[in-house]
Amino acid sequence: MSKRYTITAALPYTNGPIHIGHLAGVYVPADIYARYLRLKGNDVAFICGSDEHGVPITIKAKNEGVSPQDVVDKYNAIIKDSFEEFGISFDNYSRTSAKIHHDTAQEFFKTLYDKGEFVEEVTEQLYDEEANQFLADRFVTGTCPKCGNENAYGDQCEKCGTSLNATDLINPKSAITGNTPTLKQTKHWFLPLDKHEAFLKEWILKGHKKDWKPNVYGQVKSWIDDGLRPRAVTRDLDWGIPVPVEGADGKVLYVWFDAPIGYISSTKEWAERVGKDWEPYWKDKDTKLIHFIGKDNIVFHCIIFPAMLKAEGSYILPDNVPANEFLNLEGNKLSTSKNWAVWLPDYLKEFPNQQDVLRYVLTANAPETKDNDFTWSDFQARNNNELVAIFGNFINRVVVLTDKYYNGIVPTPSEFSKVDDDTFAALRAYPEVIASSIERYRFREASQELMNLARLGNKYLADEEPWKTIKTDEERTKTVMYVALQVAAALATLSEPFLPFTSEKLKGILNVSSSAVETSWSDISSKNDLLPAGHQIGKAELLFSKIEDETIQKQLEKLEASKKANEAANKKVEPQKETITYDDFAKLDMRVGTIIEAEKMPKANKLLVLKVDTGIDVRTIVSGIAESFTPEEVVGKRVTVLVNLAPRALRGVESQGMILMTASADGKLVFVNPDAEQSVNNGLHIS
Ligand code: MF3
Ligand code: ZN
Repeated sequence: MSKRYTITAALPYTNGPIHIGHLAGVYVPADIYARYLRLKGNDVAFICGSDEHGVPITIKAKNEGVSPQDVVDKYNAIIKDSFEEFGISFDNYSRTSAKIHHDTAQEFFKTLYDKGEFVEEVTEQLYDEEANQFLADRFVTGTCPKCGNENAYGDQCEKCGTSLNATDLINPKSAITGNTPTLKQTKHWFLPLDKHEAFLKEWILKGHKKDWKPNVYGQVKSWIDDGLRPRAVTRDLDWGIPVPVEGADGKVLYVWFDAPIGYISSTKEWAERVGKDWEPYWKDKDTKLIHFIGKDNIVFHCIIFPAMLKAEGSYILPDNVPANEFLNLEGNKLSTSKNWAVWLPDYLKEFPNQQDVLRYVLTANAPETKDNDFTWSDFQARNNNELVAIFGNFINRVVVLTDKYYNGIVPTPSEFSKVDDDTFAALRAYPEVIASSIERYRFREASQELMNLARLGNKYLADEEPWKTIKTDEERTKTVMYVALQVAAALATLSEPFLPFTSEKLKGILNVSSSAVETSWSDISSKNDLLPAGHQIGKAELLFSKIEDETIQKQLEKLEASKKANEAANKKVEPQKETITYDDFAKLDMRVGTIIEAEKMPKANKLLVLKVDTGIDVRTIVSGIAESFTPEEVVGKRVTVLVNLAPRALRGVESQGMILMTASADGKLVFVNPDAEQSVNNGLHIS
């Protein structure tokens, strides 16, 4: 029976391109689900858009010296285009800077406000005196009171997923100046989650939500069991949607208040464009609302947004929130800032027309129940051993042989043997098997069942050997080729949710693109003649091609390069010391000297005792360079000496000055050599 579905995929933050972690966690499974439901004839709205407010975007803008609008314009275009090229079949991709969204979010806020669903309160919030700014969300970091993670944000700890108020953080620090914030009074509107606790308990814990994925259900249950507290849904910021009530000047909606409403405004935008009514997709009890997200978004989609929808009163609540765990890359956490990622725009450029390979690999290895690792060698193996050797090989044999033996015309079968009947029986079971995995959000399993069907076809051909029987038994050969062609036709349809580009190509090869001969999902279970005898198919084309070692090597080298770049960037640079005046500098008396004697300080690892001829006298200087230089090495060296440093006793030896040292480009300790034979990277200039 056809049903209405509203399928949402988390609105990506518009502060960078999409990477494989986003794809594996959210967009590929959501797309498989949406495509599957459409194939089965359901009424589907698959909704997404850019999340363009929020602190990460303002931080990025600040770092790059551009406006937040510039940042979101740039990345919205990049993200939207790459999704499209990758075949993510959104019905609508909007953006939260769109007018329709500002209107919808403000109206939503107004409705709750008018209904008295908010608590308006002046409270003390974290404030950065130097930056003149309140610190919320990602503008402040500190220690999570729940798990001890030292890098928790002001609204959430990404380590344990707990949602926080900024004032909960232990040892908070401004992300802008690094200062310890002070407290300052300000007015905000709070959503009293405690008031909705009973409802949430009923809905999630007692309701039918036990069929939610265990990772999702478990997290939500533990938060509810811990007790819920009011949460501010407004912020003192200048980037965001203005709070639409009196006395809220300079305040905007909290990004996690406006962003999920983006699902609604994107649905409205779509409905307007295609001439539909948006409301049934959000308000009809028979509509199934499904949110695809990553695990860091669980609290917002399972507690806060449902509480908002419930408070508003006219909306349906999500039927399921199949959140995924995280994908790692070659053993390390994906990271935008560390450039440890495979970026979608790069992939599309470097692997042209190979969208399905990445879709398949990310699905076959999806982080559905635990964090998983993407490796380039697994990518290569899945392509070469599965897509090429099984799926592609089967199709190629069928099409080439049909062309060779029958000029591409599907032959008329004669009697079916037991093997043929068994093959048909197995084939007929596949739509149901794959559907049942997809409907339980087990996309990995579903993708493996699809591959099993190709395996079945491959094995059938290998066992029946039409290339041998063609010489001895024409009738048998026709029957075998007929059966194999039916398996190929089934693959063309069943692969569509997973491998949409391949499916389309295969339909072209089999000449079943026109609706008269197109196979539906349910046809496969009921018909023996998906490709009827006499039907003309086309010529073979390669569906997949082998990926060579060099290609993989190149990708690994690219990752290695970003690892190196990171290490270089992460070398701790001491912050600049306080500014000094010229007069301060002029007090330094520096002379060129020569080391004339050197010996190790007894019982001290680091110290050398030097006799230095400074030109004005010969004096003793104790220098902490013994780990870098032997006494023999330094005797005779010309050095720069600070001669008017107050004398100081080190281990009983009075040191009467200081030898100036610096670090070379490769990090080694070197003398500030007055003859300047060596280049130093942070050179000290003495005139
Ligand atoms: N931008 C958020 C993220 O990338 C997701 C927002 S989902 C929505 O984590 F519900 F708020 F839209
Ligand atoms: Zn934590």
